[in-house]
Amino acid sequence: MDTKELDCPQAYKNGYIYFKDLMILVNADVLIPRIETEQLVDLVIDFANKNNAENILEVGTGSGCISIALAKSTNAQIVATDISPKALNVAQTNTLLHKVQDKIAFIESDLLNTVHFYPEIIVANLPYIPRARIDSLDRSVKDFEPKLALDGGPDGFELYRKLLKQIKDKNIQPSLIAVEIDTEHSDIALAEAITNFPEYTHDITKDKYGYERFLVIKKN
Ligand SMILES: C[S@@+](CC[C@H](N)C(=O)[O-])C[C@H]1O[C@@H](n2cnc3c(N)ncnc32)[C@H](O)[C@@H]1O
Repeated sequence: MDTKELDCPQAYKNGYIYFKDLMILVNADVLIPRIETEQLVDLVIDFANKNNAENILEVGTGSGCISIALAKSTNAQIVATDISPKALNVAQTNTLLHKVQDKIAFIESDLLNTVHFYPEIIVANLPYIPRARIDSLDRSVKDFEPKLALDGGPDGFELYRKLLKQIKDKNIQPSLIAVEIDTEHSDIALAEAITNFPEYTHDITKDKYGYERFLVIKKN
């Protein structure tokens, strides 16, 4: 057997993976949803339902797993974006599979460049691996998952740095911004959050493995 085939993640071989008990179709155009990301979704579901949120923006939807799980468990309308048209195709197929096409609209966009509305909640799991670290990742990741879904720029925080600044510059003022981060980015993430949203509360929360994984910014 070709050794490359041995490294191919089972989810790509199967063509699907389960995310919060939902079957999510995946192919080489999208990141395989990770279990840690389920916690990001749980946090947003909890906030959205307690605050009767009517709309949510997801930036960098990939397979659509986050938006579909949110559509299933909240009353909000969702806008999901990605810079990759191929990823958006996969997300759209998953949306049809789960019959939530009436709750999710898709926009091809580089971060918020073509987003022109004011969501109450913004959620993202954008690429956050420092570029120089990609070569040292496991072959099952670096040889199979899309670089566009991994590469977080020189220090890994580049996309979030831009996103937070765009949210501020567009004066969106969401009630909640919740993003998944690299475990080594908590200091830089908090500093950027405080710089852009000084009047909000800022928290880093841990994933179930004990790693600092989520930046949570809430309007007071
Ligand atoms: C780490 S993957 C996460 C996918 C999915 N949200 C998940 O949690 O499994 C990041 C996604 O962000 C997208 N992306 C990368 N750069 C982007 C940008 N500048 N604007 C919007 N999306 C981007 C990638 O195409 C990829 O689908």
